[in-house]
Amino acid sequence: MTDTGPRGTPARGRFITVEGIEGVGKTTSLEFIRAHLAAAGHDVLVTREPGGTPTAERLREVLLESAEPIGPQAELLLMFAARSLHVDNVIRPAVEAGRWVLCDRFTDATRAYQGAGRGLDVAWIERLADAVHAGLDPDLTLWLDAPVEIALRRADQRRSGEADRFERERETFFERVREGYRELAMRWPDRVRRVDAAVPVEDVRRAIAVILDEALPG
Ligand code: TMP
Repeated sequence: MTDTGPRGTPARGRFITVEGIEGVGKTTSLEFIRAHLAAAGHDVLVTREPGGTPTAERLREVLLESAEPIGPQAELLLMFAARSLHVDNVIRPAVEAGRWVLCDRFTDATRAYQGAGRGLDVAWIERLADAVHAGLDPDLTLWLDAPVEIALRRADQRRSGEADRFERERETFFERVREGYRELAMRWPDRVRRVDAAVPVEDVRRAIAVILDEALPG
C-alpha cells in the first residue's frame, strides 16, 4: 500500500529499527516484523547496520573482524562512516520513495555500545548523528530486552563460527550496553519501546504485533 502525498508524489515511508544486545533474538523478530508489515500491504526494505551497502558491508567486516586493534574513537567513526553511506544511498531514498525501511540497529546502537559501553562522549555522538542523518530518526524502535546472562548464553549456543570483536566482550560491557538502552527508552518513551525478550517466542511476537499496530496504524 503506497500512500499518495501532495500532487501524486508518494507519501514518506516509515523508518523502523530493532535494537538489543546479542542473543535477544533480533534475527527471528526482524523476519516476523517484516512479514507483519508486508501482510498489512507495506513495501518493506530490510537492511542492517553496520552495513546495508557494498562499501558499508566492507566497513562491517573491518569493525567485526579486524585483527589490528581498533580504539573506541576509530570504532565510532567507522560506525558513522558506514551509517553515512547507508543513509545517503539506501535509507533516505527508500523512505522518500514511500517504502518502509526495517533496519537491524541504527544510532541507538552507537549510543548504547560506543556511548554507554565504551564510555565515549555522548555529546560527540549526538553531533555526529546530526551531521550524518539530520531529520532522519526512526519512527519506531523496538528494543528487545533480556537479562545479559540469558542473552549471552543464547548467543553462545547459536553461534556457528568464531566470536567477533563485540561478542568477545565481557558480561560487564553488555550490562552497560543494556543500561544504555534502558536510558534511551526513558529518554524517548514514545519512540523506543521495550519488548521483553526473555519470554517464549510466541509471546515476544504477540507483544511486537501489539506495538506495531498501535504505534504505526495503517
Ligand atoms: P549484529 O548486527 O550482528 O548484531 O552485530 C553488529 C555488532 O556491531 C553488534 O555487536 C553491535 C555492534 N554495533 C555497535 O557497536 N555500534 C553500532 O552503532 C552498531 C550499528 C553496531
